Amino acid sequence: MRIHTFEKAFLGVGAVLLVLFAGALVYATAAMGVHLPGVAGNVDPARVYQTPPFNTPGVRQTGPGRYEAVIVAQAFGFNPSVIRVPANAQVTFTATTIDVIHGFAIDRTRMNMMLIPGQVSRNAYTFRERGEYLLVCHEYCGIGHHTMSARVIVE
Ligand code: CUA
Repeated sequence: MRIHTFEKAFLGVGAVLLVLFAGALVYATAAMGVHLPGVAGNVDPARVYQTPPFNTPGVRQTGPGRYEAVIVAQAFGFNPSVIRVPANAQVTFTATTIDVIHGFAIDRTRMNMMLIPGQVSRNAYTFRERGEYLLVCHEYCGIGHHTMSARVIVE
């Protein structure tokens, strides 16, 4: 029957799309390195500044071409507010918040995390282009939310 043929055709289109989308997911994960940030650990929000690595916020080298940027968020700013990293090095951002939920998004990159009290957020990024990038809070966190930003300087 004619209807039957159409149904088969639509099922075929659906199957092809499913395979394409699954392939796109695998490509994004394996080839492009797109991951959910996940929970990288826990920290007592009342003792963040006494708990390593958050007792020394800032950028440090962890190996050849590898750096870690430790950042503490608080209404309404990031500590440190200027983050200097070299180009073409893998920078692991380790961040948390000492008060409410904040966002952590770096303009023109795929860096996009939520900072949740009690949890450590971690994600790595390699800046290929030198210049200044804006780090913004993109979770509404109070009256000064729109002023909450920092600068990432890639040199
Ligand atoms: Cu912090 Cu919005």
